[in-house]
Amino acid sequence: MHNPFDLHPEDKLIMKDCNMIADVVVGLQYGDEGKGKVTHQLARNGNYTHVVRFNGGCNAGHTIYHEGKKFVTHHIPAGVFYGIRSVIGPGCVVNPKKLFEEIEDLESGGIDVKSHLKIAANAHVITDFHIAEDSKDKNIGTTKTGNGPAYRDKYARKGVMASEIPSLSDMIVDMYSEIHDNPEFEKVEILCEGAQGFGLDIDWGEYPFVTSSHCTTAGVISNGIPHTSIRDVWGVAKVYETYVGAKDFEDDSELAFDLIRNIGSEFGATTGRPRQVSWLSADMVKRSIKVNGVNKVVFNKADILDEVGSWCIHDGMDSHNFQNSEDFEQWILREIDEPDLIIFSRSPEKI
Ligand code: IMP
Ligand code: MG
Repeated sequence: MHNPFDLHPEDKLIMKDCNMIADVVVGLQYGDEGKGKVTHQLARNGNYTHVVRFNGGCNAGHTIYHEGKKFVTHHIPAGVFYGIRSVIGPGCVVNPKKLFEEIEDLESGGIDVKSHLKIAANAHVITDFHIAEDSKDKNIGTTKTGNGPAYRDKYARKGVMASEIPSLSDMIVDMYSEIHDNPEFEKVEILCEGAQGFGLDIDWGEYPFVTSSHCTTAGVISNGIPHTSIRDVWGVAKVYETYVGAKDFEDDSELAFDLIRNIGSEFGATTGRPRQVSWLSADMVKRSIKVNGVNKVVFNKADILDEVGSWCIHDGMDSHNFQNSEDFEQWILREIDEPDLIIFSRSPEKI
């Protein structure tokens, strides 16, 4: 019988030019790894037509230094800093009131947001009821921004979509038309900006101490960006860990953690809460690299450990101490061998 999957010598393999390319930025830890900085730098250096936020809402706080000024974005993708079309994707939830405040804040800092910001029609809305409910949370230590209730209502099929909100109408786009059928762009190149991180992911974090969205590369694809378009996945980590939330995370007997918190300014960009600190977990970074398909890693805040003068890594049951950053980094380069690029960043983000 003829096997339809057998290629005969006379059959031609036709390779089509892919007209979409996507690079992804994901957090390898618990959020606050410096994804904003990495996205901002990639947006500056790349040829992107779009920057798309693919998950989360205004629970996120991405700190970005642009031309010497500090900005904290919550919903708005970092493309606006370079005049790149910036889309809040269908995987996100939006608080319209907070979004307008954020637009005003960036515009008053000299950034033209209104010409570039779009919102997918099928992104969901965070309502006042969601915020009121979330503000009562005591168990998870949420950001109290209404994020969890908004996603719950989306999945319960009783949510409100962005297309239903009159004040957003100027910015609403159909995600399919925007990226797959857009006469404005011959070839679409998307930078996908993730929020939160692997340790907070709804499926991969330590449930229930998680956020309510998909923070991994998986979350990109459901925004209409096909897996075949993905070129690079940038995983962002810090050389130590921080976590904000209700679970007990920090080992109180470790004196270096207070120093790291203070020297590293480890206080929430959204809520101002002190972040709990721990040493780098190599285990977690390795798992996160595999699950996300990461091929490039940035370890931020290497300068903070230089200043503190202590370096330690947890690896399963083992814990390794190092005398200097060189030994510390060599260990990482040796043991975390999957990515083709690992960068240790000491730049204090003020670029
Ligand atoms: P929620 O996303 O507000 O529901 O919070 C759930 C958990 O995720 C809490 O532990 C929050 O502190 C944490 N979280 C949510 N967004 C961020 C973020 O952008 N950075 C760090 N932690 C976050
Ligand atoms: Mg943050």
